[in-house]
Amino acid sequence: MIVPEAAPFEGHVWITGASSGIGRELARRVARTAAHVSVSARSLDKLRSLADECRNISAHPVDVADADAVRGVLEQIRSGHGDIDTAILNAGIWRLMDAVDLDADFARAAMLVNYLGVVNALSVLIPAMRARGRGHIVIVASVAGYRGLPKSISYGPTKAALINLAETLRCELEPLGIRVTLVNPGFVDTPMTQSNPFPMPGIVSADAAAATILEGLRARRYEIVFPTWFAAAMKILRIVPNGAYFWLVRTFLHKPSQ
Ligand SMILES: NC(=O)c1ccc[n+]([C@@H]2O[C@H](COP(=O)([O-])OP(=O)(O)OC[C@H]3O[C@@H](n4cnc5c(N)ncnc54)[C@H](OP(=O)(O)O)[C@@H]3O)[C@@H](O)[C@H]2O)c1
Repeated sequence: MIVPEAAPFEGHVWITGASSGIGRELARRVARTAAHVSVSARSLDKLRSLADECRNISAHPVDVADADAVRGVLEQIRSGHGDIDTAILNAGIWRLMDAVDLDADFARAAMLVNYLGVVNALSVLIPAMRARGRGHIVIVASVAGYRGLPKSISYGPTKAALINLAETLRCELEPLGIRVTLVNPGFVDTPMTQSNPFPMPGIVSADAAAATILEGLRARRYEIVFPTWFAAAMKILRIVPNGAYFWLVRTFLHKPSQ
């Protein structure tokens, strides 16, 4: 995969899920040109080590599933570093899970972090951006949200919800001057995927993913989806009729004996 140059970024950028993987690499790249990058996740030690790398990165630990804590940390960020120009809502959790082994507690946690974690942030960001008449919201979902995939019972629905949410936001917020971008990665080599026991076609490094995301943001795309051929395959799966989709999954992804 060719890694494009980092896009120039200005202003104050807030990135959630920045203690590892895609979020961490995004923070490193964004910090090259942004005025300030505020980074959040739960792991304070990892955020601090990232902040130690660049003088314009500051650590703001928070559990995005906790609405009050999100409100508090955003107030802390705003008073310390000014209004947020771009929010990259990237925090997420994943676990491989069969429908027959459905763990409702984890499914609830995934919805709380992956979907409601974004909603918690939006409930503070949207009024603030609306008051200023500008801002940029970037939501990291996944191609796993395009259609129901085997073993994705606790994760896919959270990403499908985000894809739907981003469309609603785009319709309503763009006329108010607030940009909305949806990022749908394919497989990325991060702690999240390191224990996946299946082949991950087209997997890219977290740094390459971050570079591609920044390139897409620079090109002002609504949806940033990668890598290209895998994204194309997933987009075709998204639009084929149900009968064809279930046949393809049965034939190539999930044999009934498994
Ligand atoms: N890797 C892939 O193949 C892939 C593909 C498609 C989409 N994505 C999406 O990309 C995003 C980043 O994932 P990644 O691959 O970079 O995984 P990762 O390395 O595991 O990073 C996940 C980040 O989310 C943070 N996080 C988890 N729960 C949180 C919570 N309750 N509150 C605040 N932060 C929390 C983690 O930090 P703490 O544990 O310190 O809180 C970490 O910084 C996720 O939304 C993921 O679903 C990944």
